[in-house]
Amino acid sequence: MRTTIALITGANKGIGLETARQLGARGVTVLAAARDEERGRAAERALRADGADAWFVRLDVTDAGSVRQAADWIDTEHGRLDILVNNAGIVPRTRGGPPSQADLGAMREVYEVNVFGVIAVTNAMLPLLRRSPAPRIVNVSSEVGSITSMTDPASPLARMPAGLAYPSSKSALNMITAMYARELRDTPIKVNAANPGYTKTDLNRNSGFRSVTEGAEASVHLATLPADGPSGILWGHLWTADGPADGYGTLPW
Ligand SMILES: NC(=O)c1ccc[n+]([C@@H]2O[C@H](COP(=O)([O-])OP(=O)(O)OC[C@H]3O[C@@H](n4cnc5c(N)ncnc54)[C@H](OP(=O)(O)O)[C@@H]3O)[C@@H](O)[C@H]2O)c1
Repeated sequence: MRTTIALITGANKGIGLETARQLGARGVTVLAAARDEERGRAAERALRADGADAWFVRLDVTDAGSVRQAADWIDTEHGRLDILVNNAGIVPRTRGGPPSQADLGAMREVYEVNVFGVIAVTNAMLPLLRRSPAPRIVNVSSEVGSITSMTDPASPLARMPAGLAYPSSKSALNMITAMYARELRDTPIKVNAANPGYTKTDLNRNSGFRSVTEGAEASVHLATLPADGPSGILWGHLWTADGPADGYGTLPW
């Protein structure tokens, strides 16, 4: 039986590391991508200590050369890719102010990783994914990229202060997900966006109310969808006005 091969970007910590751990526990060969060699090797060691067949791959999603090298390495070593989890993501270095005070430099930095990085990695990996019998692409997005949720007065998200860089980057990622799914709808490739929910990681200075174990569940679910599973949806943790619903489902775009 062939093993399933998964590439997870930003896999050295947070939701990405946990996604690699959970996929590894299911017998998937995990290519744990990280932009920093030392952090990536540490993740590889931790994943192997947990019994996973894990391999560090250097990959900075904003560096075209590194994306190319990662794709070439996977081609040489495995000749195909079954699962791509576009997990790497950032928030602005300084808390972004309101839209009227948007720092375009900070916005570009966020878009380089959360938006352009996903496109660069996806397009570099697509030839490898096309060689898989059941390819799955998961774009780790967020409910804060859901324009419907963010503008619904009944949603807890409507109470968030207005910001631009991060939420709009995830809205762009949602549309990117929908458009890849449309292009690839006559192929076995499924492309979906994951909503981890508000998860305790460095991204939010560990203020999230969900554990990384819970936060990775949406990515793992979408990465392992059966042949009759959906493509072109935003799926994951649901949060209602009454608080965390502790349920999963499809979110509105
Ligand atoms: N935490 C939440 O509540 C939450 C909610 C919804 C969505 N998300 C999304 O979940 C994903 C993972 O976030 P997290 O919460 O686990 O954050 P995290 O702990 O800060 O991890 C982010 C990961 O992305 C990597 N990364 C950043 N820039 C990169 C680049 N240019 N190339 C490659 N890797 C890069 C980081 O590597 P370094 O260690 O080298 O910086 C790190 O491994 C992100 O897409 C985030 O937007 C998170």
